[in-house]
Amino acid sequence: MTSHHLRPRLGVLLSGTGRTLQNLLDRTGDGRLRASVAGVASDRAEAFGLQRAMDHGLETRHLREPSAIWSWLLELDVDLVVLAGYLRLLPIVPEFEGRVLNIHPSLLPRHGGKGMHGDRVHSAVLQAGDVESGCTAHLCDERYDHGRILVQARVPVLPGDSPAALAQRVFAAECEVYPAAIALRWHELQRG
Ligand code: GRF
Repeated sequence: MTSHHLRPRLGVLLSGTGRTLQNLLDRTGDGRLRASVAGVASDRAEAFGLQRAMDHGLETRHLREPSAIWSWLLELDVDLVVLAGYLRLLPIVPEFEGRVLNIHPSLLPRHGGKGMHGDRVHSAVLQAGDVESGCTAHLCDERYDHGRILVQARVPVLPGDSPAALAQRVFAAECEVYPAAIALRWHELQRG
């Protein structure tokens, strides 16, 4: 799949609040990320992230079936699929191999996999006594939280940290890392 777009068109999939979507909207809006959000789909009709997308006048869909998701993404002519707090495993069709990105709030391969999301990740980090955590943006494959790592950032675990305090520190890093990973992957694809 080659693209005629100068900036990547992003198809965003989410299940939750859409904080990651908001960060992408902020950064595509002010030009820090040279990309555009073409549409947002969620497996959950009530996801607050879908509401955010609607408030921005974006194309939105409530979709669960992978075949419906892919035909919508093809119709939207997206270049990259950005998982933004999307809790399902998405089987990737050949046209989009190497074009689906995820961000996970830990230093993968630590603390990833099915069911590891949100505060469960940060609780696991604290329970393990890790002295640092961070976030990982990666390409997606057929396994949860698995695929080539694009960008990672580290944050310290501080004495007395709660899962919520650690989550906040990690999310601030995610806000830098995900746009950087999107730009990097787009650059790689353009170079061919
Ligand atoms: C982020 O922390 C990211 O690591 C994970 O989902 C979270 C965003 O979800 N993949 P949300 O936007 O708060 O629902």
